[in-house]
Amino acid sequence: MAEPKSNELMEKIVSLCKRRGFIYQSSEIYGGINGFWDYGPLGAELKRHVKDAWWKTMVRLRDDVAGLEATIIMSPKIWQASGHVDTFSDPMIDCKTCKGRFRADQTDEIPCPQKPSKCVNECHGEKTEPRAFNLMFQTYVGPVQDDSSVAYLRPETAQAIFAQFKNVLETSRQRVPFGIAQIGKAFRNEVTPRNYTFRSREFEQMELEFFIRPDEVVEAICGGVAKPEGDGHPGDPQPNWGWQLWHKYWVEERIRFYEGIGLPRNTLVEYWQTRQELAHYARATVDILYKFPFSKRDEKGELKGEELEGIAARSDFDLSQHERFSGKPMGVFDEELRVAWKNLDQAKQDELWKRYYEARKGYLERSGVDAEQASKDATEDADGLARGQYIPHVIEPSAGVDRLILALIADAYSEVTETDPKGKSETRVILKFHPRVAPIKVAVLPLLKNKPELVAKAMQVFNTLRREMNAYYDDGGSIGRRYARQDEAGTPFCVTIDFETLEGMKDGEWAGQTDTVTLRHRDGGRQERVKISEVLPVLLERVR
Ligand code: GAP
Repeated sequence: MAEPKSNELMEKIVSLCKRRGFIYQSSEIYGGINGFWDYGPLGAELKRHVKDAWWKTMVRLRDDVAGLEATIIMSPKIWQASGHVDTFSDPMIDCKTCKGRFRADQTDEIPCPQKPSKCVNECHGEKTEPRAFNLMFQTYVGPVQDDSSVAYLRPETAQAIFAQFKNVLETSRQRVPFGIAQIGKAFRNEVTPRNYTFRSREFEQMELEFFIRPDEVVEAICGGVAKPEGDGHPGDPQPNWGWQLWHKYWVEERIRFYEGIGLPRNTLVEYWQTRQELAHYARATVDILYKFPFSKRDEKGELKGEELEGIAARSDFDLSQHERFSGKPMGVFDEELRVAWKNLDQAKQDELWKRYYEARKGYLERSGVDAEQASKDATEDADGLARGQYIPHVIEPSAGVDRLILALIADAYSEVTETDPKGKSETRVILKFHPRVAPIKVAVLPLLKNKPELVAKAMQVFNTLRREMNAYYDDGGSIGRRYARQDEAGTPFCVTIDFETLEGMKDGEWAGQTDTVTLRHRDGGRQERVKISEVLPVLLERVR
């Protein structure tokens, strides 16, 4: 784990994660494997809650998104169509002296294998010209290992969504605009995995492909395309939204999501990629950055932030590529367009036809189709408008689970120093996770473990709560120690069963007069008396 010595906060976070069972180095007993990380008991719960929150927000609470869970290994043709086989690479240079291989754009930050503590620039060996190094992990399918059995571990989850677009459309009863969401593992043979889990070789993504009508279709149906006005969330989706408003909508929705799980807006940066940075098919891409402790600083000393998520307006590039490579039509039929088209006057039809034709021709030519063929195919595509046919465009919010976990831990990390009556000071850690993502939602603590009535009541409360949320039972050590342990795990609530609780007991049976427990809040340490019957609803309201 090569963290820079200067970054004290990162060092503390890495050490806490190991000590409390959030994150371990993969294969640690064998010396580890660079770029791979395991999640321990608390990390696994945190990750699960983050993915559940995303799925709930992006799929369950929406009428216009359906879910998918596809395989990691898919037909290698998918990666030819997507462009990953040809272009998913980093420029690499080799050093002829130390034989090291480095990313051409990062030579000042990479250790030289001969002198690992030094940077490559200190090795003045002659370097080769940059060469492309493909980042996909390769494997073989079946018993024969030759060119015909080569397959890849997916470098993103998105392509399966495009490949299954037609199946989902037909089986989910969705119509454009609608989205398909997927959470799953992705693999990239990163040349320089670094910054703890931030750049890993195996990681998880949460991706949505949201399919929309091309602007020409919106205009044909609605008579015009609404343009974004002012800052902020544009409100509920409207039929006259084109790609710009849908893109803005998803940027704002995603920022709301982060706020809803405890990352305040001022920890995030909305970065609009410049024209030079944009992929050739993308119309706009906004990266949502989080100000990680290891982020570089700008000239004012402010953290610049590192990418958590990218939200790209990808035109109809992906579906078009799969249509060309698979030979299967990826277009949709839209009855509203067919009807609207008939009612347009000739001049409007011609104008929209021409714009759609130009866009399709441009895509085909950029994809290597010769000009004559591109013109013929684009004509066919534009003629389809009159029949209600088109290839949907897509807006893609694509987030990394592991980067979000790291951001949440970094953001939650805080320390308090307390001094006891004897004047002894102790600094301890509190992880201030939002209750929605906290690994443990509630700890149930009998005040004393040798009082059977307290233990029985505590077990009863615990068994009720654990059915609904991740609850933890702890009867070891002083109550103060137990609270501190839960603070360090980021548990937002503790329920303590004490003697006042027992006042509700009569002849060993629950008589229910007082029936209260202490509900202790992690943040601020506030304690309140709550009826046992109210504990579950009170907690559910905060953790959901
Ligand atoms: N389908 C689009 C796509 O994959 P990307 O920007 O390459 O876009 C999306 O990846 C997100 O996946 C990133 O914003 C990041 O959160 C996460 N991610 C990408 N590479 C990663 C890596 N090596 N380690 C951890 N997370 C990564």
